[in-house]
Amino acid sequence: MRIKNICCIGAGYVGGPTMAVIAHKCPDIKVTIVDINEQRIADWNDENLDNLPVYEPGLADIVASARGRNLFFSTDVEKAIDEAQMIFISVNTPTKTYGLGKGKAADLKYIELCARQIAAVAKNDKIVVEKSTLPVRTAQAIKDILDNTGNGVQYQILSNPEFLAEGTAVQDLLNPDRVLIGGDTTKEGQEAIEALVEVYANWIPRENILTTNVWSSELSKLTANAFLAQRVSSINAISELCEKTGADVNEVAKAIGMDSRIGPKFLKASVGFGGSCFQKDILNLVYIAKSYGLHEVADYWEQVIIMNDHQKRRFASNIVRTLYNTVSGKKIAFLGWAFKKDTNDTRESAAIYVADDLLFEQANIAVYDPKVEKGTIYRDLDYLGTRPADANRENVTVYTDPYEACRDAHAIAILTEWDEFKQYDWQRIYDNMKKPAFVFDGRNILEGQKLEQIGFVFSEIGK
Ligand code: NAD
Ligand code: UGA
Repeated sequence: MRIKNICCIGAGYVGGPTMAVIAHKCPDIKVTIVDINEQRIADWNDENLDNLPVYEPGLADIVASARGRNLFFSTDVEKAIDEAQMIFISVNTPTKTYGLGKGKAADLKYIELCARQIAAVAKNDKIVVEKSTLPVRTAQAIKDILDNTGNGVQYQILSNPEFLAEGTAVQDLLNPDRVLIGGDTTKEGQEAIEALVEVYANWIPRENILTTNVWSSELSKLTANAFLAQRVSSINAISELCEKTGADVNEVAKAIGMDSRIGPKFLKASVGFGGSCFQKDILNLVYIAKSYGLHEVADYWEQVIIMNDHQKRRFASNIVRTLYNTVSGKKIAFLGWAFKKDTNDTRESAAIYVADDLLFEQANIAVYDPKVEKGTIYRDLDYLGTRPADANRENVTVYTDPYEACRDAHAIAILTEWDEFKQYDWQRIYDNMKKPAFVFDGRNILEGQKLEQIGFVFSEIGK
């Protein structure tokens, strides 16, 4: 079957960029991205490309190339489902905050709602593609719902997890290491896989398109994120040992990364990994392992999260300890709030947790981030529920000018590795700070020696 019409449910960080690239690369396929969030759809349709709801380098150009031609953003979910041959489900799958599996299992309510809506609307056969990250065996649940509540039409369920990283989403989508497609081993399942392979083959070499059974595909996504996060926790664990022993974590990372079996990537010690997925996906893996009675497997992976939480807390307590055991009433400037550079996404950002710890110590926090809006910063803190919203507004000030954020501060904490921080006039920043002036580089991006020459007291993770 040749696919001519695609619908994607969920216009978020995955649905938006992924479908924009498909539309850009496949001009003969009509791609409609739908969402129940009207504001999000309005933002995707905004004529001013600076207002797109997702910031990613290169994304605005891709959207501009296809929007209105074969790429459409809409709130009319039913119409898009009805017209499409292939429906991607790209909705959020957060950690459950209630009931059974609270705090660990993935909340699949949005996925189930999509399945029920597809079943209610579809009048002809459809291929349903899991793009969201899902617990292994979710395809079975989707199939049960579709088969039992539908109009007697046939469904094929594929798993096609997304491996893009935020900040490099467009490049990752244009040149992925691999595309993974899992499907049924039946003839119909294989035909559905081939239909999706053909879409990607418009720009991705076939040898980079890997096909597997559905369960391998679902589990590979959780596994990939668990392995990546595990590397960060591993190097962060070593960073603490470096600080005690005089070893330098950057040197250690370089030395081990040159072993081709280990490889150099994802060995950057930091204030801890953030982002919407690593923690959620590992917790999900832990929950799945436990539900099969595999307690050693669960404990093994849970340690990756425990180490990450420790790293964030350790960073905050180092600030307090170094500032003579009190930050009460002191201004601490945060450079960066996003969970990594080149994104406006702040979900699970280390900055949130470091701020929370310092607010408990009665610090005044001044935040500057080049892409994150003020409202998002307050929402992130309010969401923790650890203090009244008023207290967050009273003790956290958001700046649009980094030099003003740092003025009269006792210390600066680097929470995101934005490139622009390296270009600042650090002498000017120093001159306007309280003395002694401290910099806590949570991302190891600034040159310690240069700042020490200026007069800063400089501290870096893992040194
Ligand atoms: P997101 O929150 O940015 O977007 C999800 C969107 O789905 C929201 O706009 C929401 O309004 C919409 N939605 C929810 N229920 C809906 C419904 N019933 N009908 C229509 N729209 C609905 O989430 P995201 O970051 O794009 O992540 C989506 C999935 O992709 C998750 O499973 C995530 O684990 C996975 N993933 C994310 C990334 C990433 O970098 N963010 C990378 C790979 C995989
Ligand atoms: C991650 C994976 O890299 C993607 O392959 C995956 O698709 C995605 O999760 C997902 O499923 O959501 P993302 O979270 O966007 O992508 O960004 P990463 O580059 O993986 O960074 C995650 C966090 O780890 C960031 O806070 C980053 O600063 C931190 N990190 C990363 C380190 O501290 N050190 C490193 O060496 C690498």
